[in-house]
Amino acid sequence: MTYAIIGFGKIGHALAKAFARSGIEVSVATTRDPESFAADAAAIGPGIIPTTLAQALKADILFLAVRYESHPDVAKALPTWQGKTIVDVTNAYGVPVEALVDQSSARTVARAFKGGK
Ligand SMILES: NC(=O)c1ccc[n+]([C@@H]2O[C@H](COP(=O)([O-])OP(=O)(O)OC[C@H]3O[C@@H](n4cnc5c(N)ncnc54)[C@H](OP(=O)(O)O)[C@@H]3O)[C@@H](O)[C@H]2O)c1
Repeated sequence: MTYAIIGFGKIGHALAKAFARSGIEVSVATTRDPESFAADAAAIGPGIIPTTLAQALKADILFLAVRYESHPDVAKALPTWQGKTIVDVTNAYGVPVEALVDQSSARTVARAFKGGK
């Protein structure tokens, strides 16, 4: 089983620290060149692997730790999410409920990641 955290902001860092505490390797990715956050990842632990988004999306289990507004950009990065588990930690702050599937941001995100669990 392989893991990746998409988004390496405040929540991405908190998740990476939890992985490091448990001694589990995890890739971390943003829109930026992994070199740009390699020092941050190394400061958390050797098992935190800075990578590109394309590489991170090869993981079996992905933590979606981007701002809610960015979830469609991540969702369109793969044609299907079949076989992937996506752990959605986003909050739709400031998004009108009418803009959400069944007034639920979790359902909106789930629909965007077609085929994923
Ligand atoms: N569940 C909870 O308890 C809880 C608590 C607090 C926050 N949250 C939610 O967690 C999410 C993250 O919050 P945060 O405070 O960590 O946000 P943040 O500090 O702004 O970090 C967002 C991260 O996402 C990256 N990113 C943006 N667009 C991306 C894309 N298309 N592909 C890959 N990476 C992308 C950003 O990097 P670049 O822009 O450099 O690419 C950045 O590393 C939010 O949705 C927030 O509402 C949840």
